[in-house]
Amino acid sequence: MAGLVTALMAVVALAAAAALGAQAGMAGVFGIAVPYVAVAIFVAGFIKKVIGWASTPQPFSIATTGGQQYSQPWVKQAKFDNPSTPGQTFVRMALEVLCFRSLFRNTKLDNRPAEGRVGYGSDKSLWLFALMFHYCFLIVFVRHFRFFLEPVPMAITGVEFVDSILQIGVPTLYLTDVFFVVGVSFLLARRIWDPKVNYISLASDYFPLFLILAIALSGIYMRYFAKVDVIAIKQLAFGLVSFKPVIPPNVDWSFYMHFFLVCVLWAYFPFSKLMHLGGVFLSPTRNLPNNTRMVRYINPWNDPSIKPHSYEEYENDFREKMIEAGLPVDKEA
Ligand code: HEM
Repeated sequence: MAGLVTALMAVVALAAAAALGAQAGMAGVFGIAVPYVAVAIFVAGFIKKVIGWASTPQPFSIATTGGQQYSQPWVKQAKFDNPSTPGQTFVRMALEVLCFRSLFRNTKLDNRPAEGRVGYGSDKSLWLFALMFHYCFLIVFVRHFRFFLEPVPMAITGVEFVDSILQIGVPTLYLTDVFFVVGVSFLLARRIWDPKVNYISLASDYFPLFLILAIALSGIYMRYFAKVDVIAIKQLAFGLVSFKPVIPPNVDWSFYMHFFLVCVLWAYFPFSKLMHLGGVFLSPTRNLPNNTRMVRYINPWNDPSIKPHSYEEYENDFREKMIEAGLPVDKEA
């Protein structure tokens, strides 16, 4: 509970700081200085983390497996749960990254009073809502490129068209806005209501969820309620990416709040659990084929001065003593 309150208060304080700061004449800080610093921290932090992972010794295949290993031709192999070739491993990674396949196998321990027992059952809710949240985030992210590109590419206007296909309201409702908020809210509710997940949840689990929810809600407020001056915001965004920053008039305080929370997300990203974005590709438990019976892995860091000593050599060294002690030997003296 303390983690939840700390994270919520942190997000509220950050949002309030930006909203009040922008109205107190600090638009330059929140619209120019903070974004540059945040992007620099994001890029440097991300690269440092990836270099750290990529240079970590990984001499053995430690793939996590969930099915029959490749063995005899008449034994059916679970190719994508227990891949033995680079091609199968690629498919496994693609299924994991694009379809969150490991979450699809999520189970839940239920108390089943009618049956008089507890039991594990399939639970697809985490998979469904996690998928919903991540894909909506991706689409919202892609749509935002309209603020940074002129003319707006056809691909982005196409995504906008499909996303607002139901033509609800003015400005038209983006379906991803609704599903985005539903997805994050489920992930948050699960941490709060499920006692088992709640028990292991820390402030660092709640903070990104509250932060992302606040970003989404402030964006929704800007679009549907405050109806902010998008042309002025585009001018600000263009100034930033062309390194000729300007603070146009008519930019609502809610934009600075939204943008500041996004900057906090960027700066926080490399030091948080959100780095699973990069980590999933570098995880040796996922990205290696399980071919330990076909390929001999030799640790490249083995000390060359330490020579291997086979059992045969060991027995040759100690055969007489072993026989004296009554130990079995492969070859008699
Ligand atoms: C993590 C990154 C971000 C997320 C998740 C996010 C999320 C959202 C969401 C959910 C909306 C509601 C409307 C829509 O979906 O378009 C929105 C609106 C908006 N966002 Fe963001 N945003 C992000 C980054 C940014 C950045 C970097 C800018 C700076 C240009 C920005 C500027 C705006 C503006 C101006 C609106 C109002 C759009 C309108 O009136 O149509 N956002 N944002």
